[in-house]
Amino acid sequence: MKNIVSCTILALLALTGSSLAQEAHFAYPLHGDTLVAGSNISIRIDRPTPSGPVVEAAIGLGMSACSSSCPSPETSFEYLFYAGSFNPQPPAQISSGEDFNAFQNFTIEVPSISGPAILGFLHSSFGEGASAFYPYFESVNITVNVVSVSQ
Ligand SMILES: *[C@@H]1O[C@H](CO)[C@@H](O)[C@H](O)[C@H]1NC(C)=O
Ligand SMILES: *[C@@H]1O[C@H](CO)[C@@H](O)[C@H](O)[C@H]1NC(C)=O
Ligand SMILES: *[C@@H]1O[C@H](CO)[C@@H](O)[C@H](O)[C@H]1NC(C)=O
Repeated sequence: MKNIVSCTILALLALTGSSLAQEAHFAYPLHGDTLVAGSNISIRIDRPTPSGPVVEAAIGLGMSACSSSCPSPETSFEYLFYAGSFNPQPPAQISSGEDFNAFQNFTIEVPSISGPAILGFLHSSFGEGASAFYPYFESVNITVNVVSVSQ
């Protein structure tokens, strides 16, 4: 318990002064991970505690196979896994190895493709200031390697 409290304080200190505190990121999978085509996985997207009040708006999550290059999430998704509201929640229970970030899991079936693929999301939210709401928008991606189950 003591560790949990001191880690939380450290995490809060680390965020102080960050102007990009509405950022979200992939907690699973991670850049460079290998995924098995046709398997069901939970994609975990973390949204670390913002430095001020934030109204979450939406997220769109998808994947594209990379051929000569990887299509940007800002251009297209070959597979759209989810599009809708984003509602990251703090973990109900902190199990060992987990972080303290609010997160949302999206269960998806890995497409039947083979080789490098770009996994990405588009995320928007509003930071609440003293006299206005300030829109925030980001495009985030990682590259994974999709293999067939026999490999
Ligand atoms: C993945 O989930 C879908 C929908 O729940 C299910 O129909 C399918 O059998 C699952 N696939 C595997 C490999 O578990
Ligand atoms: C969320 O997804 C991660 C990564 O797949 C998994 O480790 C974790 O158990 C999931 N948590 C919940 C509450 O579903
Ligand atoms: C993926 O994200 C990186 C930053 O992490 C960025 O530099 C790169 O342009 C993005 N790639 C695509 C295809 O959008």
